[in-house]
Amino acid sequence: MDIRKEYLEFFKNKGHDIVSSMPLVPDDPTLMFTNAGMVQFKDIFTGAIPRPANPTATSCQLCIRAGGKHNDLENVGYTARHHTLFEMLGNFSFGDYFKKEAIAYAWEFITVNLELPVDKLWVTIHESDDEAYELWQEHIDASRIKRFGDKDNFWSMGDTGACGPCSEIFYDQGSEHFNSDEDYLGGEGDRFLEIWNLVFMQYDRQKDGTLVPLPKPSIDTGMGLERVIAIKEGVLNNFDSSNFQPIIKKIEELAGKTANEETIGSYRVIADHLRATSFMLSQGILFGNEGRPYVSRRILRRAVRHGYLLGFRKPFLAKVYDTLCNILGSHYTDLNEKADYIKEQLTLEEERFFKTIELGMSIFNEELAKTKEIFSGDVAFKLYDTYGFPLDLTEDMLRDKDLKIDNAKFDELMDEQKTKAKAAWKGSGDVAS
Ligand code: ALA
Repeated sequence: MDIRKEYLEFFKNKGHDIVSSMPLVPDDPTLMFTNAGMVQFKDIFTGAIPRPANPTATSCQLCIRAGGKHNDLENVGYTARHHTLFEMLGNFSFGDYFKKEAIAYAWEFITVNLELPVDKLWVTIHESDDEAYELWQEHIDASRIKRFGDKDNFWSMGDTGACGPCSEIFYDQGSEHFNSDEDYLGGEGDRFLEIWNLVFMQYDRQKDGTLVPLPKPSIDTGMGLERVIAIKEGVLNNFDSSNFQPIIKKIEELAGKTANEETIGSYRVIADHLRATSFMLSQGILFGNEGRPYVSRRILRRAVRHGYLLGFRKPFLAKVYDTLCNILGSHYTDLNEKADYIKEQLTLEEERFFKTIELGMSIFNEELAKTKEIFSGDVAFKLYDTYGFPLDLTEDMLRDKDLKIDNAKFDELMDEQKTKAKAAWKGSGDVAS
């Protein structure tokens, strides 16, 4: 089943307009990247621009959650379900239908179209939302509806803008496969997989935090396509699905080894990060030292570091790229059309980091051998400044060692460097920022 198509057609048949994915870089200074399907509609929700003739829409939106309010970068490779870039299916109502229909549509789609077994489904609602509690009982037993607070069941795009209480649908992948302390509904584990979030948009959050009611209560939903594909294919990890497996296989082939329990994380990180950086390049986000280009650089350098761990010593991502195109190129045609350019940019950035990674890794390992509790801020800064190791990469390298970096020292050195750089600008005739 082509789930993307099935979803869009389902909502089209319910009267929604199918709209295209908006660019990854939104026209909004408060947002680093488009992080949800609703971003292209945010001004319609608040009433800043009039609603379209058809007040309902549906989309499959490319999202990046690697920087800003919603940031999953740290989790990628360590959980079965997080990605830096993913596809979000969504349906939207701009003051048209509200909770009752949103819940009924979602239930119909997952139980009839996706045929997910009802005895594996759970629902969460905001603790104050008695209306949603009543409405859900038309579809699911009350014992499977759980109430949570703002942390879990209140959604906002950023610090300001449209937001509201939400209701999430979870799929229980079975106690037989999961046994961490976090594998309970609402926990951080992978057993209860959140597949769909229905946001009951009711407020416009102001800069000072006040919640002003929206002109009309609205609906914003988001379903993670990668997760649903994995469930439908009967695998417990998104990376084991057909969306990622060919990429992982290709990396194995190039590395000349197969993944094992110890190395599989590296393959997954590379697969995820190749997707994110390729899409960013396809939309004109290059690698650089600030802002979005720096996020892209950080993501790519993580991939290179994991490649290094697998034995790669020179650029390899361009060789994996065609496999990515085979999976997503027919839907995202830019990936095919700009293939040569994207491969070239990936290779150039990999080359830059491969030049310094070897020395950086040996400096890191030397320091690690000496470290008892806190990793030196001086060395982290040297790795950043001279060897091109973003701070979060060094943090990631320390993650499984349970060590933290002396961030205060790192920040002090960073500030010093900025001051020096500013001083160097003086008298040059240019303006330092
Ligand atoms: N905007 C909501 C989310 O991203 C649906 O979860």
